[in-house]
Amino acid sequence: MSLPMLQLALDNKSLADALASTRLLAPEVDVLECGTILVCAEGMQAVRCLKSLYPNHIVLADIKAADAGSILGAMCYDNGADWMTAICCAPIATIQTALAEAKKRGVERDVQVELTGTWTWEEATLWKEAGVRQVVYHRGRDAQAAGQSWSDEDLSKIRKLAGMGFQLSITGGLTVDDLPLFKGIPVKVFIAGRAIRDAQDPAAAARAFKARIAEIWG
Ligand code: 5RP
Ligand code: MG
Repeated sequence: MSLPMLQLALDNKSLADALASTRLLAPEVDVLECGTILVCAEGMQAVRCLKSLYPNHIVLADIKAADAGSILGAMCYDNGADWMTAICCAPIATIQTALAEAKKRGVERDVQVELTGTWTWEEATLWKEAGVRQVVYHRGRDAQAAGQSWSDEDLSKIRKLAGMGFQLSITGGLTVDDLPLFKGIPVKVFIAGRAIRDAQDPAAAARAFKARIAEIWG
């Protein structure tokens, strides 16, 4: 099982604030996420800026696209995103058109289906048939704030998605102490935002994630 990567979710409310985080943290992580909140605040210039400053990092635009897959896909990729997200309730046509934009630009570009909210196994089969390789299993920020914790049901869905052949990112208020829950699952990326950015020593917090990942999956 290969070592899961670490993604920093930049859900900052301004680009200046996000760049203060990346100055400290880019060397500690594998993927830089232009978070939904940051894209809403600053638009595609945030994606463009992250990729031009950090060309060797994977840059993800977490736009959670629900429609206009072709236009939004082209917009993300042409501004430097390697990966973008589409929300699980998007019509399959949106996912297909975003994937087509990714494919036009090479095999490394990708669309992740963001599993925030409700979805079905029938839809998961459709994503697979459409050529989706990656899904993001997400305990939503608001669901977490309302007290939802990681459950056995989450873990069994995550295992089933892995069994279907999806590459998995896991996120949603993750802390280092949550990592052992996912032991034995071939996770591609762990995504953390607040647990790293808001830590007293953010670089040490990122290193703690990396060290625990290496301990469990190494
Ligand atoms: C919210 C998101 C966040 O980027 C994701 O939840 C990671 O951030 P945090 O670790 O702070 O929860 O996509 O919709
Ligand atoms: Mg995000």
